[in-house]
Amino acid sequence: MGKIVIEGGYPLEGTVRVSGAKNAVLPILAASLLAEEGVSQIEEVPRLLDVRVMADTVSALGAKLEWNGSSIRVDARRLLSVCPPAELVRKMRASFVVAGPLLARFGEAMVALPGGCNIGPRPVDLHIKGLEALGATAVVENGYVHFRAPRGGLHGARIYLDVPSVGATQNIMMAAVLAKGQTIIENAAKEPENVDLANYLNAMGARVRGAGTDVIRVEGVDRLHGATHAVIPDRIEAGTFLIASALIGRGVYVENALSHHLMPLIAKLEEAGAVIEDRVEGIKVWPCQGGRMRPLDVKTHYYPSFPTDLQAQMVAALTVAQGTSTVTETVFENRFMHVAELQRMGANIHIEGRTAVIEGVPRLTGARVTATDLRAGAALVIAGLLAEGQTEVYGLHHIDRGYDNLVGKFTQLGARLERIEGDAELQIAKSVG
Ligand code: UD1
Repeated sequence: MGKIVIEGGYPLEGTVRVSGAKNAVLPILAASLLAEEGVSQIEEVPRLLDVRVMADTVSALGAKLEWNGSSIRVDARRLLSVCPPAELVRKMRASFVVAGPLLARFGEAMVALPGGCNIGPRPVDLHIKGLEALGATAVVENGYVHFRAPRGGLHGARIYLDVPSVGATQNIMMAAVLAKGQTIIENAAKEPENVDLANYLNAMGARVRGAGTDVIRVEGVDRLHGATHAVIPDRIEAGTFLIASALIGRGVYVENALSHHLMPLIAKLEEAGAVIEDRVEGIKVWPCQGGRMRPLDVKTHYYPSFPTDLQAQMVAALTVAQGTSTVTETVFENRFMHVAELQRMGANIHIEGRTAVIEGVPRLTGARVTATDLRAGAALVIAGLLAEGQTEVYGLHHIDRGYDNLVGKFTQLGARLERIEGDAELQIAKSVG
């Protein structure tokens, strides 16, 4: 069993560069399936387990992928299947977004019901309803959803999403680009990753307007071609470094972090006492006085509010705040599994419904802890960096899903941590390549 061993208490200093956004590159790789002509070149692709799963999914459908450093060339002119391997889709919920492109291009998609992070029930009802509104039938059978377009293909529709689901917005957008007529998605997810997807689709010849607002309009076109696209920086990775640096930094420059994607986090870090300087190509952060935040009240919500994907890291930081903080999770149920692990390190937290009440303690102490999901893993690494003594973080496959070289990047900033591989992690490292 692999682990990250952290000697806490060493300050962070210098520059760290943020990789391309996981949550942008995943739907973009799925969208590359739409190109009947030409090839796509996707740049700034992070080396992550989730990206490998999506790349394998797209390859399994017949697309030809070539990696070259942080770029992937995708040739999807000849595809062979409309049914991605179930074992890949079950590994990662985001794989479900191949349904939209396959259905749009071939009139059929058969996709297993997805898996993903262990953070409460995450249905796909809005994906299905949205694709049905475009004229598709969806039959759920034996763990698969079988989508079929009507004779004559998908048609545009007006779709209101009950919640602004990121994945459902992507799936509908990607199906609508080849549908006849206009599609209007209301209460659409406004996340920057969806804007990046829309930009890529438009570069492929699609006509998508309004991405980044809550009304997206798609005018269907007949066919799409490959395009070159550089993925936006990962705001969650950037936020993870900003949070750690606000506590144990001595002036850290987070290069390639875009402040306009991180407004709620920056506001909260400033409220906590950190000093944030927005620079042209990144964000510089100086720590809160004495390395302890002033207490905060934080509530996660859909973009542009405070992201649920930074909730766990913020809870970790607030364990050593100078008073009582609250963190309320409104997007997912059951996303406080990191709390029990933080308690093992001396944190004083109790859960009241969807709120974590965190009484700040002067310091955490090192312990053996286990990541229960991707962002919980990052939170435990932050806690280990803050803690007195040695921390061992297990469950590395979660961290590998979404952080490109987290240990290397913190080491570069002066932290003392080391990754010790177990057999499972070695297998995973080989597959990420
Ligand atoms: C995406 C992100 C994930 C992030 C989440 C919320 C990717 C690959 N993942 O996940 O990192 O934590 O957005 O910002 O981009 N819901 C339904 N029915 C549906 C779909 C969603 O009820 O059909 C609910 C979910 O249970 C959840 C909420 O809507 O409570 C938001 O989920 P959604 O935005 O779809 O998240 P994902 O796209 O899975």
